[in-house]
Amino acid sequence: MARNQKDYFYYKAKDEGYRSRAAYKLQQINKKHNVIKPGDSVVDLGAAPGGWLQMAKELSGGRVLGVDLQKIAPIEGVDTVKGDLTSDRILERIEEIVGEHGADAVICDAAPNLTGNWSLDHGRSIDLSQAALGVAKRLLMPGGHFVVKVFQGDMFKEFLDEVKENFVYVRSFTPSASRKQSAEIYVIGKKFISTDIKAGNEYDVEIQEIGEQGDGITRIGDFVVFVKHAMVGQAVRVRIREVHPNFAFADIIE
Ligand SMILES: C[S@@+](CC[C@H](N)C(=O)[O-])C[C@H]1O[C@@H](n2cnc3c(N)ncnc32)[C@H](O)[C@@H]1O
Repeated sequence: MARNQKDYFYYKAKDEGYRSRAAYKLQQINKKHNVIKPGDSVVDLGAAPGGWLQMAKELSGGRVLGVDLQKIAPIEGVDTVKGDLTSDRILERIEEIVGEHGADAVICDAAPNLTGNWSLDHGRSIDLSQAALGVAKRLLMPGGHFVVKVFQGDMFKEFLDEVKENFVYVRSFTPSASRKQSAEIYVIGKKFISTDIKAGNEYDVEIQEIGEQGDGITRIGDFVVFVKHAMVGQAVRVRIREVHPNFAFADIIE
């Protein structure tokens, strides 16, 4: 077969020792969106045969863990788990390996077995992407990043909105290494927000201390909320103004 544009990344991967052309998709996603930086701990869901794992290891040099239904042949410095990313038992194993610090990035290139029936394939892809989002929410440290593959279709926007609830910045992106005829698109969520607290929510709180900038500090669950013009010991009703990955700002309303 000629080295035409269609097979460019296939041959490039063979030449450069990557296990799949998909490695270049991750490289292009990272070039554009900067989701993996040196030293990061990365979890890759649906990782076989391992092109993304090789690229993730190259980009981070840190701890990299791959999960797949299929066995992944060893890659130096990369841990692997064979199992289903939608299973609680597997998630518990991944959590144990990742440890308390959490992951800096969760990436997912998993794909269901395609049947050729567009709406069935789309539905299964959305189910898998939602499962990956659930895993990311359990594993990511506050401010961590998420990448997930989705096959486009009528439930795509709803899924994108779900990702938007959990990350400060969300974009979709099609790398040029994706095949032209492919319906796949990657959703990038940056800066994981590690709380269910949302802008506009109201809470009755007590101000516990005063921060360096003079704002009152309260905690909703473990989550730090800064309240302007408040005094220690004051009991107030606040409305959340802005939510960041590991703190929020609120205003006194009563
Ligand atoms: C397109 S391949 C991933 C290619 C990989 N990113 C690479 O660069 O080599 C999709 C993978 O998703 C895996 N997969 C699909 N459903 C899964 C599930 N429920 N749990 C774990 N892996 C799954 C498949 O076994 C398959 O290996």
